[in-house]
Amino acid sequence: MSGSRVGVIGAGYVGLTSAVCLAERGHDTVCVDVDEARVRRLSDGVATIDEPDLPELLERGLRTETLHFTTRYDALADRDVVFICVSTPSMPDGSADLRAVDAAVGELATVLRAGAVVALKSTVPVGTTRRVADRLRGNGIHVVSSPEFLRESHAIGDFRHPDRILIGSDDDRPADLVASLYPPGRLLRMSPESAEVAKYASNAFLAVKISYTNSLARLCARAGADVTDVTRCMGADIRIGAHFLQAGPGWGGSCLPKDTAALLHTGREYGVVLPEVESARATNAAQAVCIADTVDRTIGTPISEARVTALGLTFKAGTSDVRDSPALTVCAELATRGAALSAYDPRLAGIDGEMLRAAAIVGVDDPYLAAKGADAIVVLTEWPQFRELDWARIADQAPGAVVVDTRNLLDAATLADVGLTYLGNGTRGGF
Ligand code: NAD
Ligand code: UGA
Repeated sequence: MSGSRVGVIGAGYVGLTSAVCLAERGHDTVCVDVDEARVRRLSDGVATIDEPDLPELLERGLRTETLHFTTRYDALADRDVVFICVSTPSMPDGSADLRAVDAAVGELATVLRAGAVVALKSTVPVGTTRRVADRLRGNGIHVVSSPEFLRESHAIGDFRHPDRILIGSDDDRPADLVASLYPPGRLLRMSPESAEVAKYASNAFLAVKISYTNSLARLCARAGADVTDVTRCMGADIRIGAHFLQAGPGWGGSCLPKDTAALLHTGREYGVVLPEVESARATNAAQAVCIADTVDRTIGTPISEARVTALGLTFKAGTSDVRDSPALTVCAELATRGAALSAYDPRLAGIDGEMLRAAAIVGVDDPYLAAKGADAIVVLTEWPQFRELDWARIADQAPGAVVVDTRNLLDAATLADVGLTYLGNGTRGGF
């Protein structure tokens, strides 16, 4: 259905992406956020997150007046459907912090008209949609679960071409209305409880897959095998699938760590142990120690006197997001052991300099200067441009350095040719 009046609450990765894409689809879209500075910048056409195609869609939505940003909830009074896209971070016990969701629901109860539909897009534990529905039923407001599956750095593309559209509802009319707002895609309908569990189950499965690969990498390095060949074979089996089989420094970002923790917390509430997810988290927690041990073992100087250069700080390539970045965890482990850290990232300008200083990381906006005098260079993010660096020039800056390639990004022969010691992740002669 085009031409609906929609609202979006939260202008972060999910909310802003949803808002610009819903406006692109012809829906009159109002996006509410409590962050006044963010609302002001977005209203001025400044993209506040780093996503391909976002600046153009934002500009078009504002120019055609299909898209508005505000801090005022009463701007949602005439909306047909409102998507809740606020953050649900981890509490200290691993559970999802639902305060922002509850605050948004409290505001909606006072402004929405009877017959409106609220779609919960934030990732929330099983039972939340029904609880919110009970709260809003007296106001004649319907509530459905509509979890989001977009990936950062592909957010707009994922919204435009979803591999699945998930709607959890016992009631057809609000579910059909919400489904009609999305681009065409494979629609999956189920109960709110199933939809909520399916979202956590999907992220946790991805985490399990990567941790399994990282454990296999340890075995391959010791047994003289190559994990990239092993996963190439595994991935050729369509029952396994080729994605999410890349060894790395561990999985991070704003979702996989918090969602695995929340799933385990939900399991505990229901008296169910999820050992696969527990061990995926344990494997992940051990990655930084394993990488720091490798640096410690292979450089010629004591680690407390060593200079280490990190190549990559973001949690994956294609974004400036460093939330829960495994690169920062590895840097913290090296810093704890006394190493002096410099770092280069292609998106350094978009990373909070204060946060780097607090982590004792010297950010350098030039990879060659960053590598000057390094005893070890650790590749932590899979930026393809690291492959194209002039490695002979780096070898001049850091003669004899050990290169620990946690992402298996570089060409071992090129590095050996210029006199650098190359260690791949889960490869013969690596770590
Ligand atoms: P985010 O932190 O980038 O953005 C959240 C936004 O909500 C912020 O702008 C914040 O100011 C705003 N906000 C907080 N409380 C508010 C309130 N009461 N009213 C209005 N605005 C409020 O978060 P995100 O990464 O977009 O994630 C949002 C939700 O979507 C989370 O539950 C997350 O797990 C889920 N999710 C995220 C992704 C992703 O790739 N980032 C993908 C799928 C699902
Ligand atoms: C993840 C999911 O992929 C999305 O489907 C989901 O919507 C989102 O979480 C969410 O719920 O928020 P995202 O956090 O953007 O998306 O990141 P991913 O692309 O999944 O990467 C997560 C981490 O795993 C990164 O640190 C990445 O480098 C690492 N990774 C990924 C590997 O180490 N190996 C791989 O093979 C793949």
